Amino acid sequence: MNLLDTIAAHRSIRTYRPDPLPPDDLDAIIHAATRASSSGNMQTYSIIVTKDADRRAALWKMHFEQDMINEAPVLLTFLVDWNRMNRWCRAREADPGYDNFLCFLVGFADALIAAQNAALAAESLGYGICYMGTTLCATPQLVDFFDLPLGVFPATTMVVGKPAEDPETRARLPVESIVHEERYHDFDEDRIAQTYRDRETEGWNRYMAFPDLADRIRESGVKNLAQVYTTVKYTREGNIRFSKDLLEGLERHGFLNHDDDAFNTGILPREA
Ligand SMILES: Cc1cc2nc3c(=O)[nH]c(=O)nc-3n(C[C@H](O)[C@H](O)[C@H](O)COP(=O)(O)O)c2cc1C
Repeated sequence: MNLLDTIAAHRSIRTYRPDPLPPDDLDAIIHAATRASSSGNMQTYSIIVTKDADRRAALWKMHFEQDMINEAPVLLTFLVDWNRMNRWCRAREADPGYDNFLCFLVGFADALIAAQNAALAAESLGYGICYMGTTLCATPQLVDFFDLPLGVFPATTMVVGKPAEDPETRARLPVESIVHEERYHDFDEDRIAQTYRDRETEGWNRYMAFPDLADRIRESGVKNLAQVYTTVKYTREGNIRFSKDLLEGLERHGFLNHDDDAFNTGILPREA
C-alpha cells in the first residue's frame, strides 16, 4: 500500500493476536518514529517499549483495564523527555531553560508526532495500533512505574500487534467542517447540526453496541450522543480531577516554572 492508502485504511484495532513482533519490524517502527520532525531537531521525547507480560499486566491496570494491553505483544509509551537534553547541556556548560510549560508543549508535540509516525509505519507493515488516552489519566502511576526523572513525563501510549479483528473504518466529520479559508468562520446552529448529523447516529449506534457502555448510557438517562460525551464518557468532574493530577505532576517534574526567580526561591532544584 502506498502512504495515502495506509492512512485511508486506518482504523484502531482493539483485539490482537499474541504473536511477538519480529525485531526487524519493531526496529523499523521505532526508526520511523525517530524520523519525524521535531522542534529544533532536539527530539525531546523518549519511547519505552514494553513486551514483558507481567509489566503489561501492571500497565493494563493503570490504563483502566483495557484488555488490548494484555493481548498486544508490544506497548509503546511515548514520553516528553528534556532530561537527556538538559544533561547534555549541563555537561557542555550550557544552561538549559527548559523547565517550563512551553517546553512541555514542545516535547508533547514532538512525542505525538513521533508516535503518529510509528503508527503509520506499523500499519504499513500490516500491524494494528490503538492509542491509549488513559495515559494522561494515569500519569502519577506511570511516572512511578517507569522511574521517570525530572524533565520526563508521559505523553501517549500505543499498543501494536497483529489484528485479531477487521473493523470498518470509522466515518469522520465532513472535511468542509474542519477546513477554513483564510480565517476562522464560526458556524451557525444549522451548520453545527448539519456537521454532526451523521455522527449523531453513527456514534450513538456504535456506543450502544458495547453492552457495558450501553448499560451505563441507559442508566444515566442521556438522550443523545453529545450527552453521552458530556455525561458518560468525558465528564467535567473527571476532566478536572485528571487535570489536577496532571498539573501536580508537571509541577513535580519541573515543567511549570513561570517565575524568573524560581531557582532562587527553591521551587526547582538547580542541579536536578
Ligand atoms: C490520543 C488518543 C487517545 C485514544 N485513547 C483510546 C483509548 O484509551 N481506548 C481506545 O479504545 N481507543 C482510544 N483511541 C482511539 C480512538 O477512539 C479512535 O482513534 C477514534 O474513535 C477514531 O477511530 P479510528 O481510529 O478507528 O478511526 C485514542 C485515540 C487517540 C488519538
